[in-house]
Amino acid sequence: MIAHPPLVIAVDGPAASGKGTIAKALARHYRLPFMDTGKLYRACGLAVRLAGQDPYDAEAAAAAARCIDPALLDDPDLMSSLNSDYASIVSSHPAVRAALFDTQRAFAAQPGGAVLDGRDIGTVIAPDAPAKLFVTATPEIRAQRRHAELAGRGGEQTLADVLADIHARDARDSGRSAAPLLRAADAALLDTSTLDIAAAVAASIALVERALGHGGR
Ligand code: DC
Repeated sequence: MIAHPPLVIAVDGPAASGKGTIAKALARHYRLPFMDTGKLYRACGLAVRLAGQDPYDAEAAAAAARCIDPALLDDPDLMSSLNSDYASIVSSHPAVRAALFDTQRAFAAQPGGAVLDGRDIGTVIAPDAPAKLFVTATPEIRAQRRHAELAGRGGEQTLADVLADIHARDARDSGRSAAPLLRAADAALLDTSTLDIAAAVAASIALVERALGHGGR
């Protein structure tokens, strides 16, 4: 029997690029455990919010990140646009990133491999991952997707508001000094602007296969 090295797939990209959907589909395809690392930052943001604290307060945010209540990961407010802002702000503090590092690194280091999606998986959490994707789409397309998703959950934000949020979050996530959103030098670029989900998933599997240097696993 040929032993495979652990397959770690790093999927990074900006908000609403389709990276979560793609990462989940890759996890199913390769039968690997999956972690949405954005949920950790979202849970930290939510804890800060629920405690009435200031997300710009690095100490308060880091304290929240050190003891994330697992129940918050399933909170209906986790994915709201207000909480997206809190998550993006708390994630800019180096102490928050440090507090959440071990959990993510341990998940990526499982013996059989794993799929993780986020902003710094290919650059910081799993820099040696054999397969890395950087998933993107135009801000306008990402805003349309996020707007439809929020509307489906009863949100009342206009498309213009969602687009403004996307621009603000892109600027914050890319402009911060601690582990900014960045395409790793060895990450394959996948622009999903003109792709539906099935086409994006097929393209991502093809890119992973190419990164692994084979036609099948
Ligand atoms: O992937 P998401 O939109 O759910 O992430 C929410 C916020 O968390 C995002 O604005 C930036 C931050 N984040 C991060 O800094 N690093 C990650 N690996 C994942 C998310």
